[in-house]
Amino acid sequence: MPKIEDKVKGFYTVDDAIALDYETTQALQFKHLNKTRTILGGSKYFVKADGTKFIDHEGREHLDMIGAVGVVTVGNNNEFVWGELEKVFRSKQYMMGAVAYHNIAAAFAHNMALLSPGGQLTKMGTATGGAEAIEGSIKLVKLASRNKPGKEKILACEGAFHGKTTGAVSVGGKEKWRMSQHPTMEMVDWVPYGDAEALERALATGRYLAFYTEPIQGEGGIIVPPEGYLKKAREFCTRYDVIFTVDEIQSGCGRTGRMWCVDHENVVPDVLVFAKGFSGGLVPFGGYICREEVYEAAYGSAETCFHHTATYQENGLSAAAGIASLEYIMENDLIEAAAAKGDYFIGKLRELRERYPGIIREVRGKGLMIGMEFYEIPDQYKEGYGDYYADPVNNDLVEKYRIQVNHTINNPAVFRFLPPLIVEKEEIDYTVESVELAIQDAIERTSR
Ligand SMILES: Cc1ncc(COP(=O)(O)O)c(C=O)c1O
Repeated sequence: MPKIEDKVKGFYTVDDAIALDYETTQALQFKHLNKTRTILGGSKYFVKADGTKFIDHEGREHLDMIGAVGVVTVGNNNEFVWGELEKVFRSKQYMMGAVAYHNIAAAFAHNMALLSPGGQLTKMGTATGGAEAIEGSIKLVKLASRNKPGKEKILACEGAFHGKTTGAVSVGGKEKWRMSQHPTMEMVDWVPYGDAEALERALATGRYLAFYTEPIQGEGGIIVPPEGYLKKAREFCTRYDVIFTVDEIQSGCGRTGRMWCVDHENVVPDVLVFAKGFSGGLVPFGGYICREEVYEAAYGSAETCFHHTATYQENGLSAAAGIASLEYIMENDLIEAAAAKGDYFIGKLRELRERYPGIIREVRGKGLMIGMEFYEIPDQYKEGYGDYYADPVNNDLVEKYRIQVNHTINNPAVFRFLPPLIVEKEEIDYTVESVELAIQDAIERTSR
């Protein structure tokens, strides 16, 4: 049989791709993919990812404290999850297509209903990532409310991040991401995050069909709302007939020490959007689960049931990764582990805050969703080091101590830790010690 190289000169097979060296990979990336991001990020080239560790092309080990921004709950290249995906392949399942039942997706939806807040979110829509899941939820709430006179708008939160597709930036709380997207959805207003009074005032106008919020704002800077905020939001949404939609894309799947972050307050939303942690870090995945009434109001008739279809909907491989990730997380008690390790981690970082009160403004979070907010660097040093102490500390962690962390998208004063839930106590200790050394170094460099 002729080889692909004989047919398409220069074609890389998967074997070739795995064997690509640093220089070739960088050159290809710069030529064909987004080069500004990699230049600005001074990207690493990892040739191996295993559990909480990466190995770069020069054989150096790095610690994963960001888990691909909250995706890799089960650890990188988790053997159990890969093994389950392999089973799906070996048994030659029917994987794709709109015309037949989907056993794996149906089983995943069943599991998610069992694990949903209060066991009450029993219908599911799937997607291939967070932003698409948000788009799906926007469509759901609009369609479900089409017969409610006067309910024409969506309420969302300032500082919120829901993804970067056009619909998702429309509900997001940052003008920056709407650049060149205007006109975006005109029907969105925003209230300050965590302010229950402002929320009630807005909802009482009767104009809103849905309220969108993250239970902890991730990209906004790991902002934990005041205790009771979600409960009040639930009450107001019920009182004013508003569909309460929570975005658990970053905070879900056990990350905060409960299956869902809303479980901390025993709140049952009407729609819950998920992604990231359910993919095993392997397969693009996302979706929403919702109350049956909302789903039926939107898609429950022959007229509307085809209003949302997508080729990769109910994708078998993604659903298998979801099932396997959940099984691994629960069999290994990783949710409880996230709570205990998170308390330990946050406690240690707060001790650091007490030692460096002029550098660290606040340590926030729940479970293994943790942010550190830093003060501004004195003006005369900003050019060399960045606007906030978060910059030199973040850089030293990545470059000197080989710990992967990153800034929150909507708040440059904050960087965060979203490690795999399997992270070890010793790895947390190493991280905290490294943060302290990086802070001491930043103080030294900005006080010469
Ligand atoms: C809360 C939240 N919503 C939505 C998204 C968008 O998800 P994706 O990047 O998969 O589109 C993110 C991503 O960081 C997120 O944190």
